[in-house]
Amino acid sequence: AKRIAILTSGGDVPGLNACIRAVALAAERSGFSIVGVAHGYDGLIDGEFLHLETEVLRAAVPRGGTILRSARSKRFTTAEGRAEAAKQLRAAHIDSLVVIGGDGSLTGAAAFAAEHGFAVMGIPKTIDNDVEGTDVCIGFDTAVNTAMQAIDRIRDTADSHARIFAVEVMGRDSGYLAWAAGMAGAADGILIPETDADWRSLEEKLKERHKTRTGSLLVVVAEGDETGGAAPVAKRLQAAFPEESIGLCVLGHTQRGGSPTASDRILATRFAVAAVDAIAAGKSGMMTALVGDDIRLVPIASVRRRPLALTPERLRLMEILI
Ligand code: F6P
Repeated sequence: AKRIAILTSGGDVPGLNACIRAVALAAERSGFSIVGVAHGYDGLIDGEFLHLETEVLRAAVPRGGTILRSARSKRFTTAEGRAEAAKQLRAAHIDSLVVIGGDGSLTGAAAFAAEHGFAVMGIPKTIDNDVEGTDVCIGFDTAVNTAMQAIDRIRDTADSHARIFAVEVMGRDSGYLAWAAGMAGAADGILIPETDADWRSLEEKLKERHKTRTGSLLVVVAEGDETGGAAPVAKRLQAAFPEESIGLCVLGHTQRGGSPTASDRILATRFAVAAVDAIAAGKSGMMTALVGDDIRLVPIASVRRRPLALTPERLRLMEILI
């Protein structure tokens, strides 16, 4: 019977524990044995294998983070590091590996599959939602809800004092999370790298609204936007509205934690079962993906960062609502 190892790699997201649990249960159901790997690829290189307890896995489902811990491994980006990892797997009689990771971790998984011949399956997770080939990654839904709730809370206080706020949302080079949080939170401005940040036209709009407003003005800024984030935007706002006290809030890692939404737990579970099914069917070198409402497999070797995740239809909403 097959022996599967599972690890989480890169930045954690809410929903990882549901995924780990479902991989373990699906593996057992298929008659395979399952082994956890602590600390991502670094733990794989160091042979940090763990026994996975069903009860512990179940109890972890409502919690953010990853019970396996994670790492952004430098060593696994080298061929030597990957050879060391292969040695550890062979020594532990493991033939299959499930990697839950973002585009960087999945690229590493593709190299590993090509070099060492293990059955490797990737599962995409990132709050940035920027993995090519899948509509959604695990963690995005929780992060966007967290950011939206934060925006709603800032609105309560900002409206009470009719203040102007710049709120920074994560996403690295992608504006997807900021766009979604800004749309859901009814922001007055959204600055994201996908559009030519037209500060001047936004400033005009804000000035127009400022004349008649009774409440607040709130601008969502993607951390990767060319303005440089919410701090420089707050400075610009201060210059544009010198008589106002400008508020600044960087949501930061609050967006990475917290209890996963039902949507993330279910997506994680669907991906997990699809990954184990693929291993059972003798497949390797694939990533699970959500396309429309279907779970599909795409070649892991073609996984890359999705530069233009925001479709024209989505971007157009900003023109209408902002
Ligand atoms: O990729 C997820 C992410 O949270 C990005 O949105 C952010 O730019 C980055 O990770 C932060 O990295 P770290 O947790 O290493 O500070």
